Amino acid sequence: MVLVKDLSRYEGAEVTLAGWVDQLRIHGKVAFVVVRDGTGYVQNVLVKKELPGEVWDLAVSLSQETCVEVTGVVRAEPRSPGGYEMGLATLRVLGPSPEYPIQPKEHGVEFLLDHRHLWLRSSQQRAGLRVRSEVEQAIHDFLYERDFVRVDTPILTGSIGEHAGTLFTTDYFGEDAYLAQTGQLYVEAACPAFRNVYCFGPTFRAEKSKTRRHLTEFWMVEPELAFVDSQGNMAFQEEFVSYLVERALERCRPELEYLERDLSRLEKVKPPFPRVSYTEAVARLQEKGSRIQWGQDIGGADETLLSEDHDLPVFVYNYPTGVKAFYMKENPQDPSTVLCDDLIAPEGYGEIIGGSQREDDLDRLLARIHEEDLPVEAYAWYLDLRRYGSFPHSGFGLGLERTVAWITGRRHIREMIAFPRLINRLYP
Ligand code: 4AD
Ligand code: MG
Repeated sequence: MVLVKDLSRYEGAEVTLAGWVDQLRIHGKVAFVVVRDGTGYVQNVLVKKELPGEVWDLAVSLSQETCVEVTGVVRAEPRSPGGYEMGLATLRVLGPSPEYPIQPKEHGVEFLLDHRHLWLRSSQQRAGLRVRSEVEQAIHDFLYERDFVRVDTPILTGSIGEHAGTLFTTDYFGEDAYLAQTGQLYVEAACPAFRNVYCFGPTFRAEKSKTRRHLTEFWMVEPELAFVDSQGNMAFQEEFVSYLVERALERCRPELEYLERDLSRLEKVKPPFPRVSYTEAVARLQEKGSRIQWGQDIGGADETLLSEDHDLPVFVYNYPTGVKAFYMKENPQDPSTVLCDDLIAPEGYGEIIGGSQREDDLDRLLARIHEEDLPVEAYAWYLDLRRYGSFPHSGFGLGLERTVAWITGRRHIREMIAFPRLINRLYP
């Protein structure tokens, strides 16, 4: 069986391929059946007088998404998307599809999400998810080429990774277990074993917010770098993000064009990215009319305001201690802030990276755990990392769906994962 993407190799030959009916058009005694096989679309041309009656009758009765096997001769057709079409000779139905629920008309988003298992087949969804797949591969390639070791961290955890507010708790044989909010604490433990490490997997937040930037289950890649400070961390992040964008441009151009992404904006994404301290960001936001006060977290609307000043992603660094997680290193120049950075994507796509230098001083880390009212016992192992060969290190987490939403220009991150988990959605 041949694949649509390889048709150019078979010009003039009779081939058989299998796929799903995307479209049927009948113009009197000629019909066109467009078949999608996952690697592309091919138009099959049928001429009534050249075919046995039963083949014609079967073809013109095909409904959307019927699974078919088609045999025919490949010929060049410059007007066809891949440059080739097939003159259909025989046809076999492998799986009928009566009354396919998604019709080529406008459906509401809730309807489409209820039919997500079928919606995946549509061109727009296919394009977005293919870019996601390429970006995931690019993440692995970038880190592999730089000698990072991948460490798979647990999803069931006993210690709170970020903060208590957004935990999914489950019963673990009579004990509470939390679904991982992050793999970070565990990759920190793997650093002294391998130096530079990363984890990449699903993470969970019981976000009550219903926004286009929040999922309750999202994928995050978390590199951790030994002997790197906050400055080095940001330099690494801008290289990383630029590489991911470049790979999407290089290998997913047809998908990005299909999604009508303004590619000139992506082509500008190269280091260095602008850097703004939290304190400067607050002043700038106040000038723009925001009511943010020093000490408060920068919310989604304010992130969008900040991103308006830049074509590139922008780093906001050194937030107040009070709005950030317990593990971030105190800023020696200003102990009311921590050595951290958020990377805000352009065009209002929000925070795509959260990173920091880690607190490597045992006493200060312990004090922060107490301040945050976290259960110290659960962190005994994590504190050991500061007892036995503590070392300066930094790392970050990049949210995959937000990054892919920005790269593809899709507004809502629910389309960037095959089966989104949202506050009101566990189906399908
Ligand atoms: O800023 P966050 O919470 O950082 C951490 O979890 C650190 N432990 C990472 C680290 O240093 N190893 O989350 C990191 C990124 C965010 O910048 C955002 O892109 C994404 O994860 N993210 C979400 N994406 C979708 N839905 C949500 N509810 C998200 N929460 C965070
Ligand atoms: Mg964050």
